[in-house]
Amino acid sequence: MNELDALVDSARAAFAQATTPADLENAKAQYLGKAGRITELMKGMAALPVDEKKTRGAAINLAKQSIEALLTERRQALADAELQVQLKAEALDVTLPGRQRGQGGLHPVSLTLERIEAIFGSMGFEVAEGPEIESDWFNFTALNTPEDHPARSMHDTFYVEGGSEKAPNLLRTHTSPMQIRHAVQHVKRHRAALDAGQPMPEIRVIAPGRTYRVDSDATHSPMFHQCEGLWVGENVSFKDLKYVFTDFCRTFFESNDLVLRFRPSFFPFTEPSAEVDIQFQSGPLAGRWLEVAGSGQVHPNVVRNMGLDPEKYIGFAFGMGPDRLTMLRYGVNDLRLFFDGDVRFLAQFR
Ligand code: DAH
Repeated sequence: MNELDALVDSARAAFAQATTPADLENAKAQYLGKAGRITELMKGMAALPVDEKKTRGAAINLAKQSIEALLTERRQALADAELQVQLKAEALDVTLPGRQRGQGGLHPVSLTLERIEAIFGSMGFEVAEGPEIESDWFNFTALNTPEDHPARSMHDTFYVEGGSEKAPNLLRTHTSPMQIRHAVQHVKRHRAALDAGQPMPEIRVIAPGRTYRVDSDATHSPMFHQCEGLWVGENVSFKDLKYVFTDFCRTFFESNDLVLRFRPSFFPFTEPSAEVDIQFQSGPLAGRWLEVAGSGQVHPNVVRNMGLDPEKYIGFAFGMGPDRLTMLRYGVNDLRLFFDGDVRFLAQFR
């Protein structure tokens, strides 16, 4: 075996020993690099006579080409091996059952709120939302409940000093402040018509949202939901309240023989006032009176705080508890279940 064949053999062996691309590039440098064996052989030709140069040069070139071919081959082999390792690591068993994504759904109370909005929407009510951090003025004073009014003690909440019209200082205890907020905006929007002695479009609005009180037991949560309703115009009476609320309850519970009772009560912001009780005629709750809302004819002081003349404008308001409506609709007996976040409970309402 001549010296060049031996060189090619030793390159083959060196390349075969290289097990990583980096090793292989090192091995390549020894043969084909600037100071490599082939380069050295080329340099050695300088001393040869011209005719020998030719044959020697051709032979060295052949050896060089062989080594380059071996290098390419080994590079490919290493790349293939690497790919195999990678494929093995990322192996995908297409026969495994697929992973299912948990299906989400709306919270039962959200379903109720959507239902309330749809039903009142069909009766021409707008939907308004307002701040949960409210001021003393909107939450109490403007609703005919001045400081030191005994009714305030039933609405204990988290509050700080202050509470002017523009400085919120408490977590609202009911959605009733939205009566004032919405009416004031409405009046502002129709100021020109009012000033010109033209009729103002009626105020017809519901205001759903979160409310806060200190209570906490199976039927009370420190955070709960309310939905306020307000209808004010020149000729809106208690009769309209009875009609609207009866229609709402029967549609909500999909029960045409549902009976309503307006039981006299007291709220500072309505006069007269009534609690609304409902009675199912069939099903597990049949025969019991169940309280679902407070209501009444808007008090003249409240109408005045809306920016309207109580001699001319009259209407009714109500405030109901969507959490309670949800409990009655689905037969849930503990309010706290709604706010525990247990998916086993919540998944039942999808
Ligand atoms: N805001 C009252 C409460 O939380 C409920 C209520 C009663 C609202 C009578 C009304 C109403 O609008 O007219 O207890």
